[in-house]
Amino acid sequence: MTLRQILIHPDPRLKKKADPVGTVTDDIRTLAADMLETMYDAPGVGLAAPQIGVSKRIFVMDCIKEEGADPRPMALIDPVVTWASDDLNTYEEGCLSIPEQYGEVKRPAEVEVEWTNLDGDRVSERFDGLWATCAQHEIDHLDGKLFIDHLKPLRRQMITRKMQKLKRELSRG
Ligand code: NI
Repeated sequence: MTLRQILIHPDPRLKKKADPVGTVTDDIRTLAADMLETMYDAPGVGLAAPQIGVSKRIFVMDCIKEEGADPRPMALIDPVVTWASDDLNTYEEGCLSIPEQYGEVKRPAEVEVEWTNLDGDRVSERFDGLWATCAQHEIDHLDGKLFIDHLKPLRRQMITRKMQKLKRELSRG
């Protein structure tokens, strides 16, 4: 497994709609393993392929937070939200591509998601709590959308300027 570099906003690759995966090959399984390793290393609870510069519809997540609980690494390929609750939930979201910036985002509290698993089977599950928020946040990434796109324009611009400054500092070394 290989740690992949996570792109920092603003980056045109984070704004692009990703392509469907279709058939699950060994390359896709390797990609998923790399993404999980990169996510746990960060650490984060979710990571979408566009965040490592791969324009494919796949994301990984593990929202188990209880200390001592077994991890639940998931890889979701070509995911689709097939149902969303009318009930909304507000979460303070963050993103590995927007380090140390947070904002409250309102989304459906529960969603049913259908996806292809690493065996190539089409499966579905209903998510709530942090899992529901995370799945929707990651699916947004596959459509070139970031959580700051849900915030007020002024707040979004402020965060973007901070990220531009951070990237300038990083590139200077
Ligand atoms: Ni994110």
